[in-house]
Amino acid sequence: MDAANGIERTVLLVDDERDALDAYTQALRRERYRVDTAARPEEALALVRAGAYDAAVVDFKMPGMNGIELLRAMRAIDADISVVMVTGYATIETAVAAMKEGASDYLAKPFTPEELRLGVRKAIQRHELLRENRELRERLGARPAARPIVGAGAAMSEVRRLIARVAETDSTVLISGETGTGKELVAREIHAQSRRAAQPFITVDCAAIPAELLESEFFGHERGAFTGAVRRRKGSFELADGGTLFLDEIGNMSLELQARLLRALQEREIQPVGGERKIPVDVRIVAATNRNLKEAVRAGSFREDFYYRLNVIPLAVPPLRERTDDVPALVQHFLAKHAGRLNRRIERVDDEALAILAAYTWPGNVRELESAIERAMTLADGPELGAGAFVHLAEESRPAAAAARRSDAAGMPTLEQIETDYILEVLQATRWNRREASRILGISTVTLWRRIGARAPDDCKEQRPFRSETPS
Ligand SMILES: Nc1ncnc2c1ncn2[C@@H]1O[C@H](COP(=O)(O)OP(=O)(O)OP(=O)(O)O)[C@@H](O)[C@H]1O
Ligand SMILES: [Mg+2]
Repeated sequence: MDAANGIERTVLLVDDERDALDAYTQALRRERYRVDTAARPEEALALVRAGAYDAAVVDFKMPGMNGIELLRAMRAIDADISVVMVTGYATIETAVAAMKEGASDYLAKPFTPEELRLGVRKAIQRHELLRENRELRERLGARPAARPIVGAGAAMSEVRRLIARVAETDSTVLISGETGTGKELVAREIHAQSRRAAQPFITVDCAAIPAELLESEFFGHERGAFTGAVRRRKGSFELADGGTLFLDEIGNMSLELQARLLRALQEREIQPVGGERKIPVDVRIVAATNRNLKEAVRAGSFREDFYYRLNVIPLAVPPLRERTDDVPALVQHFLAKHAGRLNRRIERVDDEALAILAAYTWPGNVRELESAIERAMTLADGPELGAGAFVHLAEESRPAAAAARRSDAAGMPTLEQIETDYILEVLQATRWNRREASRILGISTVTLWRRIGARAPDDCKEQRPFRSETPS
C-alpha cells in the first residue's frame, strides 16, 4: 500500500530467470506492492494488456525479444507505463536507447535491493505524474491536434470531404446538426486544415454569454466604455485576427446583435464598444447551430440577410442514428480514450452489445455514446463488454421509439412496425441473446439483425474493430 493515499500499487517484474524474479519479489515485499511476474515477453505483454501497472521492471536480455523491443511493445499498449530497465552490461548505449524508448530509469547489474526499491519508487512517481498530466491536458482540452474525427462510413466521409474542400478557402461555413453530433470537432478540423492553422481558433458560445455582454465579447470595449471598464479589452474578433472565429450556438442571438455582426462581417472591420475607432480584422468565420435557422428566419427570430451571409457553405453533420456504421469505430475510440483515466482496459465488445448500440436512437448523439461507453467501462468487471452493459439503453429507447412511430402513423401502426416492436420485445426478454431470440421468432439471426436496423456481422466484417462471431 502507498501510505500516502492508501492506493495499492501494482508492479510487473519481467525476467527469464526464475531466481532473479524471486529475488526482486523478495526485495519489493517490504513495500507492499501487488507484484506480478512474467518469465517470457509474450506473458508480460498479455499481463500489460489485461491490467494497468504503476511500474514494470524489465530485463534487457530476454530470449525472443530484447528489452527495448519489449518496452516498445508495452508502451504501444499502455503509453504511460513506467519501466525500469535492468541491464547486465551497462553500456551507455543500451541505457540511452532504453531511455529514448521511454524507460523511466535503468539499473545495471549487480544492484542492491535498496537500489531496486528506489528505482521502482521513482517509476511509480513518474507514472503518477504522467497520468496527472494527461488528465489535466484532457480537462483543459489543450490538445487540438489530438482530436480525431472518427468514422469512415459514407456520411462522415462526405463531411470529411467537405471539410478538406472548405479548409482551402476563407468562406464562411455554417455547421448544422443536433446536439452532440460533433459540430465543434468539425469547426476545429476546418481550422486545423486551413492556412490559418497556426493562428488562433477562438470560440464564442453565443448561448452561454448573457445578451448584454455579447457585444463587448465580440467587439471589445474601450477604457471607460461603461462602469467597470477600467481598461481596454479586446473582443473575440481581434483575438481571432489572422485565425478562425467560431460562433457556436448562433441560433440564439438578438436581432440587434445579428445586425451588428452582419455589418462587421461585410465590412471586415469592427468598432469596440464605447469608441469611435474602427479596427480592420482578418477572420474566417465558422458558425454552428442545432436549430433550424431557415425556420427561425421564417418565424422572424433570425435575420434573413445574416442567415445568407453565414450560410455560404452549409455543412450538415448527420445524427448518429443515421450513421450507425460508425458506431463500432467510435466505441473503440472511446474505449481507448478513457482506458488510462478510468484504469480499465476493454478488449472486446460483443455483437449483442454492438447491436444494441446500433439500434438505439441516440438523442444526444456522439456525446451520449461517449457517456454510455464511459459508464460501461466504469462498471465493467472484466476485459469484455456484453449486452448487459447497455441493456438500459435497449430498455429506455424502445418503448419510446415505438410510441413515437405509432403516433406518426395517426395512432395506427403498420404491420412492419408491430413486427419490429415484437422483435425488440423478444430481444429484451432474452436479454439480447440473438440466437435465442431468433429461435423464438422463427427467423434467421441475419434477418433479425436487419429488422432492428443493425448490420449482420458478415455485412461489415472489414469495418469491425472487434472480433465478431460468424452468423448462424
Ligand atoms: N466523429 C467523432 N469522433 C470522435 N469524437 C467525436 C465525434 N463526434 C463527436 N465527438 C465527441 O463527442 C462530444 C461532442 O462533440 P461536439 O462538442 O463537437 O458536439 P456539438 O455538435 O458541438 O454538440 P452541441 O450542439 O451540444 O454543442 C465531444 O466530446 C467530441 O469530442
Ligand atoms: Mg458544440
